[in-house]
Amino acid sequence: MAESKTESKGPVLGYFRGKSVIVTGASSGIGHDVALAFGEQGAKVALLARRRLQLEELAKKIDKAGGQALALDCDVTDRARMKWAVEQVIESFGAIDILVNSAGLLITDEIEKLKPEDLRRMMDVNLFGALNAMQAVLPAMRKAKNGNIVNISSLAGRRGMSPLGGYSATKFALVGLTEALRVELFNTGIKVSLVMPGVIDTPMAHDAMKRDAFKGMPSMMAMPARWVTWAVLAAAAFGLTEVDVPPGAAVAEKLASLFPGLTDALLSVGTRIMQGAGAFMSGGKSESKPK
Ligand SMILES: NC(=O)c1ccc[n+]([C@@H]2O[C@H](COP(=O)([O-])OP(=O)(O)OC[C@H]3O[C@@H](n4cnc5c(N)ncnc54)[C@H](OP(=O)(O)O)[C@@H]3O)[C@@H](O)[C@H]2O)c1
Repeated sequence: MAESKTESKGPVLGYFRGKSVIVTGASSGIGHDVALAFGEQGAKVALLARRRLQLEELAKKIDKAGGQALALDCDVTDRARMKWAVEQVIESFGAIDILVNSAGLLITDEIEKLKPEDLRRMMDVNLFGALNAMQAVLPAMRKAKNGNIVNISSLAGRRGMSPLGGYSATKFALVGLTEALRVELFNTGIKVSLVMPGVIDTPMAHDAMKRDAFKGMPSMMAMPARWVTWAVLAAAAFGLTEVDVPPGAAVAEKLASLFPGLTDALLSVGTRIMQGAGAFMSGGKSESKPK
């Protein structure tokens, strides 16, 4: 993973001091960097994921950086465990101010070959995992009449792309869930935000780039995780409805949706060029190999 080497210079220094934050998917990539940044700003951060060792290492870093951390191994697809984790956070930190849903799973394949069980696995983590976390924290946030929920979807959650069709479907679903919740929580003091990243330099993207379908993609196209972290911090501090990484990318997608045929053609040509380059680099094989 490309951990950020820079000291945190978040956009709202001081604002998060003493706040209680839950980050799912904190053992790797974006969630790891987001949790570290909150910790560096003096927040109390609950770290949720399945790999306990990684969480404990991160907890030490956060404690050193001036924050307070609580490592909780928790599979987000397990509703009972999620409820337990939230109870632990309330017991330890006294409240829940911010939830960041970053836990995610990507399995690439063309729709014609996509295994239903792979789509279900992605739905379980990317959609139901976020639902479990939101439903677990909402009673406490409602009681406090305060809170921020930040859901990390994807630019693939506004426009279907190949070979990300199954993943896109889960991220579209998360966008729908988030927008509906925003309406339900209007004027309650609880703000719900979407962060929509493009390709980010994390193990998830590296793993995809090792597969033939993405082999033609230059790794320099991937943006640093800290860009997403800034988007998450800004979304949580100002209750923003949507932040794209890079900024404005979703607007381009919305414009593209006015010309769907042309967009399909451009994406199709782009995908073929990338797969051709991937096949060249892997000695002629161009078939996608999902996990
Ligand atoms: N990287 C990108 O290009 C990109 C672009 C757009 C959106 N995103 C989204 O950003 C989020 C973070 O992705 P990333 O790139 O940081 O990926 P990553 O490095 O692979 O990290 C994924 C995280 O999700 C956790 N996770 C997976 N399944 C889980 C489960 N069942 N229960 C609890 N935690 C689980 C993993 O922890 P354990 O394995 O320890 O459980 C890990 O901490 C995801 O929602 C992803 O879809 C990523």
